[in-house]
Amino acid sequence: MTVVSQAPTMHAAPTVLVGVTGGIAIYKAVELVRGLVKDGFQPLVVTTEAAQRFVMPLTFAAVAQAPVLDDQSAWQASGGWFRHIEAARQASVMVVAPATANTLAKMAAGMADNLLTAIYLAFRGPVIVAPTMNWAMNEHAATRENVHVLAERGVEVLPTEEGELACGEEGSGRMASPEAIRLAVRRAFAASAAGPLAGKKVVVTSGGTRERIDAVRFIGNRSSGKMGRAVADETYLRGAHVTLVTTQPADGTPYDIVRVESASEMAAAVTEAVRDADVLVMAAAVADFRPRDEEGGKIERGDRETLTLELVRTVDVLASTARPGLFRVGFAAEAGPRLDRARAKKAAKGVDLLVFNDILAEGVGIGSDENEITILGPDGEIHVPRTTKPACARAIVDQIEKGVGG
Ligand SMILES: Cc1cc2nc3c(=O)[nH]c(=O)nc-3n(C[C@H](O)[C@H](O)[C@H](O)COP(=O)(O)O)c2cc1C
Repeated sequence: MTVVSQAPTMHAAPTVLVGVTGGIAIYKAVELVRGLVKDGFQPLVVTTEAAQRFVMPLTFAAVAQAPVLDDQSAWQASGGWFRHIEAARQASVMVVAPATANTLAKMAAGMADNLLTAIYLAFRGPVIVAPTMNWAMNEHAATRENVHVLAERGVEVLPTEEGELACGEEGSGRMASPEAIRLAVRRAFAASAAGPLAGKKVVVTSGGTRERIDAVRFIGNRSSGKMGRAVADETYLRGAHVTLVTTQPADGTPYDIVRVESASEMAAAVTEAVRDADVLVMAAAVADFRPRDEEGGKIERGDRETLTLELVRTVDVLASTARPGLFRVGFAAEAGPRLDRARAKKAAKGVDLLVFNDILAEGVGIGSDENEITILGPDGEIHVPRTTKPACARAIVDQIEKGVGG
């Protein structure tokens, strides 16, 4: 058995260009810049004139701990003559957040009438944009076309989210969360070392299912969905196209989310999602049994002393997805150090990897932020001592990459 130890990764503060434009979601850009500093990046903030009407450059300078570039600084003689070229050379990744309809249009058209758009044209690395606007502006054919043109040219366009908009209307136009944008930036850095998962389609499940008893009650479990979310984040970071099928709210992801509730909904969503997938990771805690019948209303207590529910087996999602070309990863949460049961499960389900954890071990596993796992693979068993779930996810995804990369 190999023991994996997690050495911390050191960063030398690589520069990220952060273009900030005049959208109301600009207050989230302040949090984004702060988050990028926490992630080990040096943000180089470039604001448009409209952006400065919303937030003073000083705010960005203070959180980035660096001067902010704007149109005026481009025309000043101090500190170099070609600000737009120097800034473009300095950074490895560029992100525009918030990205207004106006700036997206200029980027698509190749206009360079302000410092931000001039830098964009001069920049040769990966570009991420986080559009945000009123839903009608967002749906306008001109905006759709501009976004399409940018995506076709390789710009990563982070989808807008549905919900209440600052203008008071409802619809799709909210900016991706700072967390989602940070993940996209980290992925853009990692993508330069394109590994075996780059461009592969990965489906991950997470969370505990709920099996309805009646209109208000259900049979559930304590799974938080954190392990699956960590695996989804990690595969996304390594360049995969990720779909997370989950029972948990999953705002703030830069990849696709499919929300489900019950085991049968999860089975249907997974069957659909894995059709053209390369990898399936079943980290969800799926119920083994469900009530035979769901009562329409609410079961009354009345004068009953007992209530008997008849339970029937649910679909075995993992077993039903087996097909050549699909790398499958299962999870086995066992009560006690029952590696023998995990080995039997791996053989029975025919999975490529099986991740075992002992649910009775103190402070780890279901609902907790940490885990201690053993990964059963074709080349033996790898024990990952107690650590964070993201660190466990890295160890699991290392093994997936080995399997997928041949
Ligand atoms: C209060 C207010 C909020 C605005 N919010 C947005 C927005 O969320 N998205 C957008 O595309 N434009 C928005 N605009 C319009 C832009 O500020 C305007 O198109 C501006 O010219 C954008 O310039 P820039 O792209 O150079 O920053 C807003 C304007 C105002 C006054």
